[in-house]
Amino acid sequence: MSNTIQKYSDYVITSFMKSIQPVVVERASGATVTDVNGREYVDCFAGISVVNAGHNHPKVIAAAKAQMDKLVHCASYIYHSQPTADLAEKMAEIMPGGLTKTFFGNGGAEAIEGALKLARLYTGKHEYLSLQMSFHGRSWGALSVTGNYGRKKRGGPYAAGVAFLPAPYLFRSPWRDDPDEAVRQWAQTLEDAIRYSTSNDVAALIAEPVMGEGGIIVPPPNYFREIKKVLDAHKILFIADEVQSGFARTGKMFAIEHYGVTPDILVTAKGIADGFPLSAFTTRPEIAAAFTPGDHLSTFGGNPVSCAAALANIQVMEDENLCQRSRESGAYVVERLKNVQKHTPLIADVRGLGLMIGIELVKDAALTPAAAEAEAVREFCLHHGVLIGVGGVFGNVVRMQPPLVISRQQLDHALDVLEQALADVSGKKVRAAS
Ligand SMILES: Cc1ncc(COP(=O)(O)O)c(C=O)c1O
Repeated sequence: MSNTIQKYSDYVITSFMKSIQPVVVERASGATVTDVNGREYVDCFAGISVVNAGHNHPKVIAAAKAQMDKLVHCASYIYHSQPTADLAEKMAEIMPGGLTKTFFGNGGAEAIEGALKLARLYTGKHEYLSLQMSFHGRSWGALSVTGNYGRKKRGGPYAAGVAFLPAPYLFRSPWRDDPDEAVRQWAQTLEDAIRYSTSNDVAALIAEPVMGEGGIIVPPPNYFREIKKVLDAHKILFIADEVQSGFARTGKMFAIEHYGVTPDILVTAKGIADGFPLSAFTTRPEIAAAFTPGDHLSTFGGNPVSCAAALANIQVMEDENLCQRSRESGAYVVERLKNVQKHTPLIADVRGLGLMIGIELVKDAALTPAAAEAEAVREFCLHHGVLIGVGGVFGNVVRMQPPLVISRQQLDHALDVLEQALADVSGKKVRAAS
């Protein structure tokens, strides 16, 4: 066992997913990760959808280094730093209309907590609505609105006052071939939940525009429009959790833009600073004004180095047309995988937006989730130099979320390996069954 793996085992609290042998990474660039033995991998998971502009983008690194020479820490809420102010201004420019005021934190869960709190203060109401199969982070408030037993187990009981709605998981719904009917039903379940499962004291509904950990669940195009109508009628805020789907990942700067709806609060993290720790929630000025002095602070939030990196990162996204690249590469990947699906019964569904792509694996026509097979696919890919993710509430969704700068050549190589993996695992499955 390598020294690093041994030290993790001895000294780091590792409640990570049970997993195959970890890769000990020495350096990374773009979509290439190099381990301590000099072996290169094509990274199709981007550090769980974080380095959208690629690992160690030279412009992001240069901006961070330049900032480090000037000022590293500033406790932005007592003193102010230039990059934090500049980034807040930039966020107002790139956000959907009207969302112009930003609070900065350090990680996704922290930003979710702040958004939930702000919604309460603004509305004067106390309950929340969320989606089954959702994931919003590991802190207690975030877990309270998370709809996934796998993430919540052994941590409860959680906060009262959260009602969960069915996820807009078309593939596993009774209306798989009728998305309009599905949306009608889901809008009705929202009405019903407000009426029967709350005390009509709901501050906000929180939802991921594309559900990441739940298994790359992409709601139908009119889903959020219909949901927002119901929310508006009941004066309930909509918090869009774009921690995973934001920053060009889905082919638009924010995934909710695909749905023609503006959330009341939009939460970001992961891809915001290309790997530097930073998170944010952004809202309309009148909602932001519900925080009075001292209501909400974070010592490290809005760190100048992270903000300088984020500014450079967003500039790179604009200069290198990463939204367009995400759309084009994503369409290419989905087309190739749909062709593989035609002769691979293991693949039940290929879905995604931009480069946020899920491949749902099943054992049989009854759609029994093939979780062990998904793990086997990941392991095969790892051994053949390609890093992919596995997720979904049933653990049966292979996830392709590479850096958006990944080249066509790297994508082709990764897809060749993935195709071999799917064939290998399908073959094993057939042999095991006979
Ligand atoms: C949609 C979503 N929200 C929140 C989080 C929590 O973010 P963090 O791990 O930075 O706390 C995650 C992390 O995977 C996520 O995918």
